[in-house]
Amino acid sequence: MNPNKRFSRFAALLVCSAFIGAAQAEDVSAPAKLPNVVILATGGTIAGTGASTTTTIGYTAAKLGVDKMIEGVPELKKAANVRGEQVAQIASESMTNEVWLKLAKRVNELLAQKDVDGVVITHGTDTIEETAYFLDLTVKSKKPVVIVGSMRPSTAISADGPINLYNAVLLAGSKDAAGKGVLVALNDQINAGRDVSKVNTSTSDTFKTPDLGFLGYMQDNKPHFYRLPVRKHTADTEFDVSKLDKLPQVDIVYGYANMNRVALDAQIAAGAQGVVQAGVGDGSMAAQMLPAFREARQKGVVVVRSSRVGSGIVARNGEVNDDKEDFVVSDTLNAQRARILLMLALTKTNDSKKIQQMFYTY
Ligand code: DGL
Repeated sequence: MNPNKRFSRFAALLVCSAFIGAAQAEDVSAPAKLPNVVILATGGTIAGTGASTTTTIGYTAAKLGVDKMIEGVPELKKAANVRGEQVAQIASESMTNEVWLKLAKRVNELLAQKDVDGVVITHGTDTIEETAYFLDLTVKSKKPVVIVGSMRPSTAISADGPINLYNAVLLAGSKDAAGKGVLVALNDQINAGRDVSKVNTSTSDTFKTPDLGFLGYMQDNKPHFYRLPVRKHTADTEFDVSKLDKLPQVDIVYGYANMNRVALDAQIAAGAQGVVQAGVGDGSMAAQMLPAFREARQKGVVVVRSSRVGSGIVARNGEVNDDKEDFVVSDTLNAQRARILLMLALTKTNDSKKIQQMFYTY
């Protein structure tokens, strides 16, 4: 080949590779692609408004719509491509099984979409821990699901809702949050949906995980994790609510000195398929209550011994002979969470031995 021709072809190659290099350099300098996060709103104080900026109790929860909440935190645009859907507009003490089923189905639909990287759920704090555990057992994806609320209404001085929402969106858009189960994030702290509890009626640091501790923190616009949940959750769950429009009736009987069987008998008469005792101590059952629980079991009602104490293990055959009575024990699940697992378990079986295994698995 003519040397001049060879040179001009080499020169052309050089010029092309310079353009490609420059383009790639531009790519490198281009802003990082923001994650796509969907906010599902259900109500609560984070959507609440008070009469004045100093009203921090006695306000009205569940007033602001999801678009108003998003507008109120323009910084969200730096954290993710965000859009909102209003799933419910309730104070969370009024949360229902129907809203849970609607929420779980919508979360699963969204997370199955390639263009959704994570979901944030705004929620009243009173029952956040229950919704978190219900979704921990019914979401079929490893993508992040973050539940967030606030302890002060949006109209209050130092409202915690905006920063909590901003952190929740950052967390839901973070690859580090994937595969860790449903997360509850308020007050710069990250808790596991399985173990978190609201432990104070009104302070902004109310969400704790007794004994077992936070999973990590939100700091400097990103999550910092220090531990992982070990029980099965989300993508590994055996529960499928996609075809359910109702859940089995399961109730809770609170244990206390000198208690009687009136409440339990009424729950059974009303058709409860399962009952959880929030017992004293390690789920102890008062002598006068044992006949009532035994009768319930003989009618086919599944009985779970949990505890009102708030942390620790409720183990089999402590002060009750569970093998003889054919009762189930809740392990470390408190009564409100034991109710949720028992409801889902009853959608699959009423075999107490299989149900006990589920309490050792989730
Ligand atoms: N009514 C309560 C609720 O919706 C307010 C508490 C809150 O959201 O912080 O859970």
